[in-house]
Amino acid sequence: MPTVLALETSCDESAAAIVRDGQVLASAVASQIEEHARWGGVVPEIASRRHLEALPLLIARVLHDAGVPMAALDGVAATVTPGLVGALLVGSVTGRTLARLHDKPFLGIHHLEGHLCSAALGEPLPPGPYLVLLVSGGHTELIRVDGPGRYQRLGQSRDDAAGECFDKVARLLELGYPGGPAIEQVAVGGDAGRFQLPKGRVSLPEGGYHPYDFSFSGLKTAMLRQVRALQASGAPLPLADLAASFEQVVADVLVERSCRCARDQQLHTLVLVGGVAANRRLRGLLERQAAATGLTWRAAPLAYCTDNAAMIALAAEQRLRAGQSSSLGLGVAARMPLEQADRLYETPPCF
Ligand code: KG4
Ligand code: ZN
Repeated sequence: MPTVLALETSCDESAAAIVRDGQVLASAVASQIEEHARWGGVVPEIASRRHLEALPLLIARVLHDAGVPMAALDGVAATVTPGLVGALLVGSVTGRTLARLHDKPFLGIHHLEGHLCSAALGEPLPPGPYLVLLVSGGHTELIRVDGPGRYQRLGQSRDDAAGECFDKVARLLELGYPGGPAIEQVAVGGDAGRFQLPKGRVSLPEGGYHPYDFSFSGLKTAMLRQVRALQASGAPLPLADLAASFEQVVADVLVERSCRCARDQQLHTLVLVGGVAANRRLRGLLERQAAATGLTWRAAPLAYCTDNAAMIALAAEQRLRAGQSSSLGLGVAARMPLEQADRLYETPPCF
C-alpha cells in the first residue's frame, strides 16, 4: 500500500496531495489565477515566486489533513516536465530535498502521465488498451494507452491547444482569464447553431486530411472576423450565442475525431482528461456519441480535470509499484514527449 506525497508546479496552480493505494487522503491547490488574470495569461516569473511561497504551507496542510507523518511516506514525487522551467524547478527542488532529508525515493513525473491517471481518481480504469483524449491549456492529444507507461500518440493539435483557444477567444470577447470556465458560463442559454464556424482540418501532403489531428487557429480567426463584423454593425455583441457556437464546434471536433480514432483502432473505451474535460457541453456530447457508437466512456472527476497534485501522486504510485524511482540529480524540461517518460527513471519497469 504505497503512500506518496506529490507536488505539482508546472504552470499556475501550486498543489500538493497525498495518495495511498489509489485513494486521495488529502489534496490542496493554491490557484494563482487572479494574479495572472491581470495580465491576460500566465507570467512565468510571477508563477515561480508564488509556487515558492505556497508550497511549504500546502505540504504542511496535506500532511496534517491526511494524518500522515513524513516517516510513513513511501515516496515523494514532483512534476518535472513539461511546463514552465522556473515553475517546475520549484516543485522539483522541493520534492528532491524532502526525499533526501527523509531518505525516501524521489519520483519525477511527466505532467501528461498525471493527467492520464486523473481519470482513475473516481473509480479504477479498465486495464487497457484504451484511448485517452487529453485536452488542456497546453495539449490536445489522442493517446493510446496499453498499460502503465505504455503510451502511443495517435493525434495532436498542429497549432493551439483546445484550452489555449478557449483562453484566446475569451480574451477576444473580453470575458477574462482563464477562458474555459468564462466561456462556459456565458454560453449557457446561447444558440449554439447561430454561427457557422470551421472545424479545422489538417491536410496531408498526399491529399486528403489527417483523420485524428486537430487545428484550432482557423477557428480563432473565424471568431475574430465574426466579432469584427458584428462590431462594425454597431449592435451589442450576442455573447451567449458566440460563446455557445464556439463551444459547440470545439466539442464537435474533439468528439468526432476521438470516436473515429477509437473505432479505427478497435479501442472500446474512451477516456477524457485535462482542464477542458471540465466542460459540460463536451462531456454531454461525448456521453451521447459514445452511447450512439457503442463506446464505453470515462472522464476525470470534475475536481481533478484542471491541474492538481493528486493525479501526480497516482502516477507516482504506479511508477513505485513498477519498482521505479528517479535520480536525485534529475533535472526539469520544458518539453518531453510522453512516450519518453520512462527516461525519467533510473530503474527499468518491472510491470
Ligand atoms: O489541465 P489544465 O489545468 O492546465 C494545463 O495543463 O494546461 O488546463 C487549463 C485549461 C485552460 O486553458 C482553461 O481555459 C481550460 O483548461 N478549462 C476549460 C474549462 N475549465 C478549464 N475549458 C473549457 N471549459 C471549462 N469548463
Ligand atoms: Zn495540466
